[in-house]
Amino acid sequence: MGVLLCNGGITSSFVRNIEKSVDMPLDSDVFRVPTGYNAPQQVHITQGDQVGKAVIVSWVTQDEPGSNTVLYWEKNSKHKSSAEGILVTYKYYNYTSGYIHHCTIKNLKFHTKYYYEVGIGHTVRKFWFRTPPRVGPDVPYTFGLIGDLGQTYDSNQTLTHYESNPVKGQTVLFVGDLSYADNYPFHDNVRWDTWGRFVERSAAYQPWIWTAGNHELDYGPEFGETKPFKPYTRRYHVPYRASKSTTPFWYSVKRASAHIIVLSSYSAYGKYTPQYSWLEEELPKVNRTETPWLIVLLHSPWYNSYAYHFMEGETMRVMFEPWFVQYKADVVFAGHVHAYERSERISNIAYNIVNGKCTPIKDQSAPVYITIGDGGNIEGLANNMTEPQPNYSAYREASFGHATFDIKNRTHAHYSWHRNQDGYAVEADSLWFNNRYWNPVEESTT
Ligand SMILES: [Fe+2]
Repeated sequence: MGVLLCNGGITSSFVRNIEKSVDMPLDSDVFRVPTGYNAPQQVHITQGDQVGKAVIVSWVTQDEPGSNTVLYWEKNSKHKSSAEGILVTYKYYNYTSGYIHHCTIKNLKFHTKYYYEVGIGHTVRKFWFRTPPRVGPDVPYTFGLIGDLGQTYDSNQTLTHYESNPVKGQTVLFVGDLSYADNYPFHDNVRWDTWGRFVERSAAYQPWIWTAGNHELDYGPEFGETKPFKPYTRRYHVPYRASKSTTPFWYSVKRASAHIIVLSSYSAYGKYTPQYSWLEEELPKVNRTETPWLIVLLHSPWYNSYAYHFMEGETMRVMFEPWFVQYKADVVFAGHVHAYERSERISNIAYNIVNGKCTPIKDQSAPVYITIGDGGNIEGLANNMTEPQPNYSAYREASFGHATFDIKNRTHAHYSWHRNQDGYAVEADSLWFNNRYWNPVEESTT
Protein backbone atom coordinates (compact mmCIF):
# COMPACT_ATOMS: atom_id res chain seq x y z
CA MET A 1 0.00 0.00 0.00
CA GLY A 2 1.37 3.40 -0.94
CA VAL A 3 1.96 6.15 1.54
CA LEU A 4 -0.93 8.17 0.22
CA LEU A 5 -3.38 5.44 1.12
CA CYS A 6 -2.20 5.11 4.72
CA ASN A 7 -3.93 6.92 7.47
CA GLY A 8 -1.64 8.68 9.87
CA GLY A 9 -2.28 9.44 13.48
CA ILE A 10 -5.38 10.37 15.35
CA THR A 11 -8.09 12.65 14.11
CA SER A 12 -10.00 13.35 17.28
CA SER A 13 -13.59 12.20 17.30
CA PHE A 14 -14.44 14.98 19.71
CA VAL A 15 -17.41 16.83 18.22
CA ARG A 16 -17.59 20.46 19.07
CA ASN A 17 -20.75 22.49 18.82
CA ILE A 18 -19.94 24.74 15.93
CA GLU A 19 -21.26 28.16 16.76
CA LYS A 20 -20.03 31.32 15.23
CA SER A 21 -17.31 33.08 17.20
CA VAL A 22 -18.39 36.67 17.82
CA ASP A 23 -16.37 39.52 19.20
CA MET A 24 -17.30 40.69 22.67
CA PRO A 25 -19.10 44.06 22.50
CA LEU A 26 -17.21 47.24 23.30
CA ASP A 27 -18.98 47.64 26.64
CA SER A 28 -17.91 44.18 27.87
CA ASP A 29 -16.41 43.87 31.35
CA VAL A 30 -13.11 42.62 29.97
CA PHE A 31 -12.67 45.81 27.96
CA ARG A 32 -13.44 48.16 30.86
CA VAL A 33 -11.29 51.28 31.00
CA PRO A 34 -9.64 51.64 34.43
CA THR A 35 -11.21 54.43 36.49
CA GLY A 36 -9.53 57.78 37.03
CA TYR A 37 -8.32 60.56 34.79
CA ASN A 38 -5.69 59.37 32.30
CA ALA A 39 -5.35 56.04 34.12
CA PRO A 40 -2.77 53.70 32.55
CA GLN A 41 -4.46 50.95 30.55
CA GLN A 42 -3.43 48.02 28.36
CA VAL A 43 -0.52 47.28 30.66
CA HIS A 44 1.68 44.46 29.36
CA ILE A 45 5.19 43.16 29.88
CA THR A 46 7.69 41.18 27.88
CA GLN A 47 11.29 40.08 28.34
CA GLY A 48 13.61 43.08 27.95
CA ASP A 49 17.01 41.52 27.31
CA GLN A 50 18.61 38.26 26.24
CA VAL A 51 18.63 36.44 29.61
CA GLY A 52 15.62 37.64 31.63
CA LYS A 53 17.16 40.33 33.87
CA ALA A 54 15.19 43.07 32.12
CA VAL A 55 11.49 43.63 31.50
CA ILE A 56 9.80 45.94 29.02
CA VAL A 57 6.70 47.48 30.62
CA SER A 58 4.22 49.02 28.17
CA TRP A 59 0.97 50.89 28.77
CA VAL A 60 -1.33 53.48 27.23
CA THR A 61 -2.63 56.74 28.63
CA GLN A 62 -5.58 58.06 26.70
CA ASP A 63 -6.08 61.71 27.74
CA GLU A 64 -2.60 63.21 27.91
CA PRO A 65 0.99 61.96 27.81
CA GLY A 66 1.25 61.56 31.57
CA SER A 67 4.38 60.02 33.05
CA ASN A 68 6.92 57.70 31.40
CA THR A 69 8.19 56.47 34.76
CA VAL A 70 7.89 52.98 36.17
CA LEU A 71 8.46 52.59 39.92
CA TYR A 72 9.47 49.07 40.94
CA TRP A 73 10.65 47.27 44.00
CA GLU A 74 11.46 43.81 45.22
CA LYS A 75 8.91 42.00 47.33
CA ASN A 76 9.62 42.81 51.02
CA SER A 77 11.74 45.82 50.09
CA LYS A 78 10.86 49.39 51.03
CA HIS A 79 13.18 50.96 48.49
CA LYS A 80 11.50 51.90 45.21
CA SER A 81 13.63 52.25 42.09
CA SER A 82 12.50 54.09 39.01
CA ALA A 83 13.06 53.74 35.30
CA GLU A 84 12.26 56.19 32.51
CA GLY A 85 10.59 55.07 29.33
CA ILE A 86 9.66 56.53 26.00
CA LEU A 87 6.40 57.65 24.46
CA VAL A 88 5.06 56.93 21.00
CA THR A 89 1.84 57.76 19.19
CA TYR A 90 0.63 56.93 15.73
CA LYS A 91 -2.20 57.67 13.34
CA TYR A 92 -3.90 54.99 11.31
CA TYR A 93 -6.42 56.19 8.70
CA ASN A 94 -8.83 58.25 10.83
CA TYR A 95 -7.70 56.81 14.17
CA THR A 96 -5.26 58.53 16.51
CA SER A 97 -3.67 56.40 19.20
CA GLY A 98 -3.38 57.25 22.86
CA TYR A 99 0.03 57.83 24.37
CA ILE A 100 1.87 54.51 24.23
CA HIS A 101 4.60 54.15 26.85
CA HIS A 102 7.45 51.65 26.78
CA CYS A 103 9.89 51.44 29.66
CA THR A 104 12.68 48.89 30.05
CA ILE A 105 13.57 47.97 33.63
CA LYS A 106 17.11 46.59 33.74
CA ASN A 107 19.48 44.82 36.12
CA LEU A 108 16.79 42.92 37.95
CA LYS A 109 17.65 39.98 40.15
CA PHE A 110 16.84 36.52 38.85
CA HIS A 111 14.03 34.48 40.36
CA THR A 112 12.56 37.41 42.26
CA LYS A 113 9.10 38.86 42.66
CA TYR A 114 8.86 42.54 41.85
CA TYR A 115 6.01 44.98 42.20
CA TYR A 116 5.70 47.86 39.79
CA GLU A 117 3.59 50.99 39.43
CA VAL A 118 2.64 53.11 36.45
CA GLY A 119 0.63 56.34 36.38
CA ILE A 120 0.60 59.38 38.64
CA GLY A 121 -1.52 60.95 41.35
CA HIS A 122 -4.87 59.31 41.88
CA THR A 123 -4.46 56.94 38.99
CA VAL A 124 -1.40 54.95 39.98
CA ARG A 125 -1.87 51.29 39.12
CA LYS A 126 0.18 48.54 40.72
CA PHE A 127 1.10 45.13 39.28
CA TRP A 128 3.74 42.47 39.85
CA PHE A 129 5.87 39.94 37.99
CA ARG A 130 8.47 37.31 38.72
CA THR A 131 11.82 37.28 36.96
CA PRO A 132 12.92 33.85 35.69
CA PRO A 133 15.67 31.86 37.38
CA ARG A 134 19.19 32.39 36.05
CA VAL A 135 19.66 30.69 32.66
CA GLY A 136 20.87 27.14 33.18
CA PRO A 137 20.46 23.61 31.87
CA ASP A 138 18.26 22.07 34.52
CA VAL A 139 16.10 25.01 35.47
CA PRO A 140 12.44 23.97 35.44
CA TYR A 141 10.17 26.46 33.75
CA THR A 142 6.63 26.42 32.39
CA PHE A 143 5.59 28.16 29.21
CA GLY A 144 2.03 28.73 28.05
CA LEU A 145 1.16 28.63 24.36
CA ILE A 146 -1.57 30.74 22.84
CA GLY A 147 -2.16 31.72 19.23
CA ASP A 148 -4.62 33.62 17.06
CA LEU A 149 -6.44 34.87 20.12
CA GLY A 150 -8.66 37.73 18.96
CA GLN A 151 -11.36 39.06 21.28
CA THR A 152 -14.43 36.86 21.07
CA TYR A 153 -16.25 35.05 23.85
CA ASP A 154 -14.13 32.04 22.86
CA SER A 155 -10.95 34.10 23.20
CA ASN A 156 -12.00 35.02 26.71
CA GLN A 157 -12.61 31.36 27.50
CA THR A 158 -9.15 30.43 26.18
CA LEU A 159 -7.47 33.03 28.37
CA THR A 160 -9.50 31.98 31.41
CA HIS A 161 -8.55 28.35 30.85
CA TYR A 162 -4.89 29.31 30.57
CA GLU A 163 -5.09 31.30 33.81
CA SER A 164 -6.96 28.52 35.61
CA ASN A 165 -4.84 25.63 34.36
CA PRO A 166 -3.28 23.92 37.39
CA VAL A 167 -0.09 23.66 35.33
CA LYS A 168 0.79 27.26 36.03
CA GLY A 169 2.30 28.92 32.97
CA GLN A 170 4.97 31.49 33.86
CA THR A 171 5.43 33.09 30.43
CA VAL A 172 3.22 33.03 27.35
CA LEU A 173 4.74 32.15 24.00
CA PHE A 174 2.31 33.86 21.65
CA VAL A 175 2.47 32.61 18.06
CA GLY A 176 0.92 35.61 16.33
CA ASP A 177 -2.42 37.19 15.34
CA LEU A 178 -3.32 39.32 18.33
CA SER A 179 -6.35 41.59 18.06
CA TYR A 180 -7.97 40.91 14.66
CA ALA A 181 -8.73 44.64 14.50
CA ASP A 182 -8.24 44.31 10.75
CA ASN A 183 -11.56 42.49 10.50
CA TYR A 184 -13.25 45.86 11.10
CA PRO A 185 -13.75 48.61 8.51
CA PHE A 186 -10.49 50.51 8.04
CA HIS A 187 -8.94 48.13 10.59
CA ASP A 188 -10.64 50.05 13.38
CA ASN A 189 -7.72 50.42 15.78
CA VAL A 190 -10.10 50.88 18.70
CA ARG A 191 -10.07 47.07 18.61
CA TRP A 192 -6.30 47.13 19.22
CA ASP A 193 -7.09 49.11 22.38
CA THR A 194 -9.83 46.75 23.54
CA TRP A 195 -7.52 43.79 22.96
CA GLY A 196 -4.83 45.45 25.06
CA ARG A 197 -7.30 45.89 27.90
CA PHE A 198 -8.60 42.32 27.49
CA VAL A 199 -5.21 40.59 27.89
CA GLU A 200 -3.91 42.94 30.59
CA ARG A 201 -5.13 40.58 33.31
CA SER A 202 -2.41 38.13 32.23
CA ALA A 203 0.08 40.19 30.20
CA ALA A 204 0.65 42.75 32.99
CA TYR A 205 1.78 39.96 35.34
CA GLN A 206 3.77 37.62 33.14
CA PRO A 207 5.74 38.23 29.96
CA TRP A 208 4.12 37.44 26.65
CA ILE A 209 6.75 36.68 24.02
CA TRP A 210 5.41 38.12 20.77
CA THR A 211 5.44 36.69 17.25
CA ALA A 212 4.08 38.67 14.30
CA GLY A 213 1.19 37.12 12.36
CA ASN A 214 -0.61 38.19 9.20
CA HIS A 215 -3.19 40.12 11.25
CA GLU A 216 -0.35 42.32 12.48
CA LEU A 217 0.36 43.52 8.91
CA ASP A 218 -2.50 46.07 8.85
CA TYR A 219 -1.62 46.75 5.24
CA GLY A 220 -4.38 48.99 3.81
CA PRO A 221 -3.22 50.66 0.61
CA GLU A 222 -6.85 51.27 -0.41
CA PHE A 223 -7.14 53.80 2.42
CA GLY A 224 -3.57 55.01 2.41
CA GLU A 225 -2.00 52.74 5.05
CA THR A 226 0.99 51.32 3.24
CA LYS A 227 3.49 50.70 6.03
CA PRO A 228 3.10 47.09 7.21
CA PHE A 229 2.98 46.30 10.95
CA LYS A 230 2.38 49.93 12.00
CA PRO A 231 0.00 49.41 14.98
CA TYR A 232 1.78 46.22 16.10
CA THR A 233 5.25 47.76 16.21
CA ARG A 234 4.05 50.88 18.00
CA ARG A 235 2.23 48.88 20.65
CA TYR A 236 4.31 45.75 21.20
CA HIS A 237 8.02 46.23 21.73
CA VAL A 238 10.38 43.24 21.84
CA PRO A 239 14.08 43.03 22.81
CA TYR A 240 15.32 42.30 19.29
CA ARG A 241 18.58 44.24 19.57
CA ALA A 242 19.73 41.98 22.40
CA SER A 243 20.00 39.11 19.91
CA LYS A 244 21.66 41.25 17.22
CA SER A 245 18.50 41.38 15.15
CA THR A 246 17.85 44.54 13.18
CA THR A 247 14.04 44.44 13.34
CA PRO A 248 11.41 43.37 15.88
CA PHE A 249 10.04 40.64 13.61
CA TRP A 250 12.74 38.05 14.33
CA TYR A 251 14.80 37.76 17.49
CA SER A 252 15.67 35.35 20.26
CA VAL A 253 15.57 35.23 24.05
CA LYS A 254 16.92 32.79 26.59
CA ARG A 255 14.69 32.07 29.50
CA ALA A 256 15.51 29.53 32.22
CA SER A 257 16.57 26.40 30.26
CA ALA A 258 15.13 27.43 26.89
CA HIS A 259 16.51 29.27 23.89
CA ILE A 260 13.53 30.69 22.05
CA ILE A 261 13.82 31.80 18.43
CA VAL A 262 11.03 33.95 17.00
CA LEU A 263 10.70 34.12 13.21
CA SER A 264 8.52 36.14 10.87
CA SER A 265 6.42 34.37 8.24
CA TYR A 266 5.65 37.81 6.74
CA SER A 267 9.15 39.16 6.25
CA ALA A 268 11.56 38.03 3.56
CA TYR A 269 13.43 34.82 4.39
CA GLY A 270 15.08 33.89 1.09
CA LYS A 271 18.81 33.46 0.87
CA TYR A 272 20.75 36.73 1.50
CA THR A 273 17.76 38.42 3.19
CA PRO A 274 18.25 39.94 6.65
CA GLN A 275 16.12 37.28 8.35
CA TYR A 276 18.00 34.44 6.62
CA SER A 277 21.36 35.92 7.55
CA TRP A 278 20.30 36.50 11.14
CA LEU A 279 19.06 32.92 11.60
CA GLU A 280 22.20 31.54 9.97
CA GLU A 281 24.27 33.43 12.57
CA GLU A 282 21.90 32.71 15.43
CA LEU A 283 21.69 28.92 15.29
CA PRO A 284 25.40 28.23 15.94
CA LYS A 285 25.12 30.46 19.04
CA VAL A 286 22.56 28.18 20.67
CA ASN A 287 24.44 26.54 23.52
CA ARG A 288 22.57 23.38 24.52
CA THR A 289 24.80 22.99 27.58
CA GLU A 290 23.41 26.30 28.83
CA THR A 291 19.91 26.12 27.29
CA PRO A 292 19.06 22.51 26.39
CA TRP A 293 15.65 23.37 24.95
CA LEU A 294 15.54 24.93 21.48
CA ILE A 295 12.04 26.27 20.83
CA VAL A 296 10.99 28.04 17.62
CA LEU A 297 7.95 30.29 17.24
CA LEU A 298 6.53 31.33 13.89
CA HIS A 299 3.08 32.05 12.57
CA SER A 300 2.38 30.05 9.41
CA PRO A 301 2.83 26.30 10.05
CA TRP A 302 5.15 24.21 7.88
CA TYR A 303 3.26 20.97 8.50
CA ASN A 304 -0.47 21.51 8.31
CA SER A 305 -3.05 18.96 7.18
CA TYR A 306 -6.06 21.23 7.47
CA ALA A 307 -7.66 22.53 4.30
CA TYR A 308 -7.13 26.10 5.55
CA HIS A 309 -3.90 27.94 4.74
CA PHE A 310 -2.76 24.70 3.12
CA MET A 311 0.88 24.93 1.97
CA GLU A 312 1.26 28.59 2.99
CA GLY A 313 4.24 27.77 5.20
CA GLU A 314 5.93 25.72 2.49
CA THR A 315 8.38 28.28 1.13
CA MET A 316 9.76 29.06 4.58
CA ARG A 317 10.00 25.33 5.33
CA VAL A 318 12.08 24.84 2.18
CA MET A 319 14.50 27.55 3.30
CA PHE A 320 14.91 26.74 6.99
CA GLU A 321 13.98 23.11 7.70
CA PRO A 322 17.49 21.67 7.01
CA TRP A 323 18.88 23.95 9.72
CA PHE A 324 16.27 22.91 12.26
CA VAL A 325 17.23 19.29 11.70
CA GLN A 326 20.96 20.06 11.74
CA TYR A 327 20.64 21.98 15.01
CA LYS A 328 18.11 19.53 16.47
CA ALA A 329 15.36 21.95 17.40
CA ASP A 330 13.04 20.39 19.96
CA VAL A 331 9.75 21.91 18.88
CA VAL A 332 8.30 24.44 16.44
CA PHE A 333 5.10 26.17 17.49
CA ALA A 334 2.94 27.89 14.88
CA GLY A 335 -0.54 29.41 14.71
CA HIS A 336 -2.51 30.73 11.74
CA VAL A 337 -4.68 27.63 11.25
CA HIS A 338 -7.54 27.92 13.72
CA ALA A 339 -7.29 24.43 15.10
CA TYR A 340 -4.86 22.09 16.82
CA GLU A 341 -2.36 19.69 15.28
CA ARG A 342 0.77 17.89 16.47
CA SER A 343 3.22 16.12 14.17
CA GLU A 344 5.54 13.18 14.60
CA ARG A 345 9.27 13.93 14.43
CA ILE A 346 9.64 14.15 10.67
CA SER A 347 11.70 15.94 8.08
CA ASN A 348 11.37 16.56 4.37
CA ILE A 349 14.76 17.85 3.36
CA ALA A 350 16.07 15.29 0.88
CA TYR A 351 14.40 16.75 -2.19
CA ASN A 352 16.69 18.57 -4.63
CA ILE A 353 14.40 19.03 -7.67
CA VAL A 354 15.79 16.05 -9.62
CA ASN A 355 15.70 13.16 -7.13
CA GLY A 356 11.96 12.99 -6.47
CA LYS A 357 12.47 12.53 -2.70
CA CYS A 358 9.67 14.77 -1.53
CA THR A 359 7.92 12.77 1.19
CA PRO A 360 8.22 13.54 4.90
CA ILE A 361 10.14 10.77 6.67
CA LYS A 362 10.59 9.91 10.34
CA ASP A 363 13.61 11.78 11.64
CA GLN A 364 14.67 11.76 15.28
CA SER A 365 16.78 14.90 14.73
CA ALA A 366 13.71 16.83 13.61
CA PRO A 367 11.46 18.98 15.77
CA VAL A 368 7.85 18.20 16.62
CA TYR A 369 5.59 20.68 14.80
CA ILE A 370 2.63 21.97 16.74
CA THR A 371 -0.13 24.18 15.37
CA ILE A 372 -1.82 26.04 18.19
CA GLY A 373 -3.79 28.69 16.28
CA ASP A 374 -6.89 27.81 18.27
CA GLY A 375 -7.17 30.88 20.51
CA GLY A 376 -10.76 31.54 19.46
CA ASN A 377 -10.77 34.56 17.18
CA ILE A 378 -13.71 35.91 15.16
CA GLU A 379 -12.86 33.90 12.05
CA GLY A 380 -14.01 30.68 13.68
CA LEU A 381 -12.63 27.15 13.63
CA ALA A 382 -10.81 25.45 10.79
CA ASN A 383 -12.79 22.21 10.71
CA ASN A 384 -12.02 20.96 7.20
CA MET A 385 -9.10 18.57 7.14
CA THR A 386 -7.33 17.01 4.20
CA GLU A 387 -8.06 13.28 4.04
CA PRO A 388 -6.63 10.84 4.71
CA GLN A 389 -4.65 12.13 7.65
CA PRO A 390 -1.00 12.15 6.56
CA ASN A 391 1.43 9.78 8.22
CA TYR A 392 3.35 12.59 9.84
CA SER A 393 0.29 14.01 11.61
CA ALA A 394 0.09 12.50 15.09
CA TYR A 395 -3.03 14.24 16.40
CA ARG A 396 -5.42 16.83 15.06
CA GLU A 397 -8.62 18.37 16.34
CA ALA A 398 -10.66 21.43 15.50
CA SER A 399 -11.31 22.85 18.97
CA PHE A 400 -10.31 26.05 20.68
CA GLY A 401 -7.73 25.84 23.44
CA HIS A 402 -4.20 26.51 24.64
CA ALA A 403 -1.14 24.43 25.59
CA THR A 404 1.61 24.31 28.18
CA PHE A 405 5.24 23.26 27.76
CA ASP A 406 6.48 22.32 31.20
CA ILE A 407 10.26 21.88 31.26
CA LYS A 408 11.41 19.62 34.11
CA ASN A 409 15.17 19.41 33.46
CA ARG A 410 17.58 19.04 30.54
CA THR A 411 16.08 15.76 29.38
CA HIS A 412 12.32 15.99 29.89
CA ALA A 413 9.45 18.37 29.32
CA HIS A 414 5.78 17.61 29.64
CA TYR A 415 3.62 19.11 26.93
CA SER A 416 -0.16 19.22 27.04
CA TRP A 417 -2.97 20.73 25.04
CA HIS A 418 -6.23 21.79 26.67
CA ARG A 419 -9.48 22.25 24.82
CA ASN A 420 -11.86 24.91 26.11
CA GLN A 421 -14.80 22.54 26.42
CA ASP A 422 -13.12 20.50 29.15
CA GLY A 423 -12.38 21.31 32.78
CA TYR A 424 -9.26 23.31 33.56
CA ALA A 425 -7.15 20.27 34.46
CA VAL A 426 -8.04 18.01 31.51
CA GLU A 427 -5.30 17.24 28.98
CA ALA A 428 -6.84 16.52 25.59
CA ASP A 429 -3.45 15.75 24.04
CA SER A 430 -0.14 15.35 25.81
CA LEU A 431 3.39 14.13 25.24
CA TRP A 432 6.60 13.73 27.20
CA PHE A 433 9.27 15.50 25.18
CA ASN A 434 12.75 14.01 25.24
CA ASN A 435 15.33 16.69 24.64
CA ARG A 436 16.94 16.30 21.21
CA TYR A 437 20.44 17.13 22.46
CA TRP A 438 20.53 15.39 25.84
CA ASN A 439 18.09 12.55 25.45
CA PRO A 440 17.27 11.96 21.78
CA VAL A 441 15.15 8.85 22.20
CA GLU A 442 11.91 8.33 20.35
CA GLU A 443 8.82 9.63 22.08
CA SER A 444 5.70 7.56 22.37
CA THR A 445 2.88 9.48 20.79
CA THR A 446 0.11 7.26 22.05
FE1 LIG B 1 -2.89 34.10 10.85
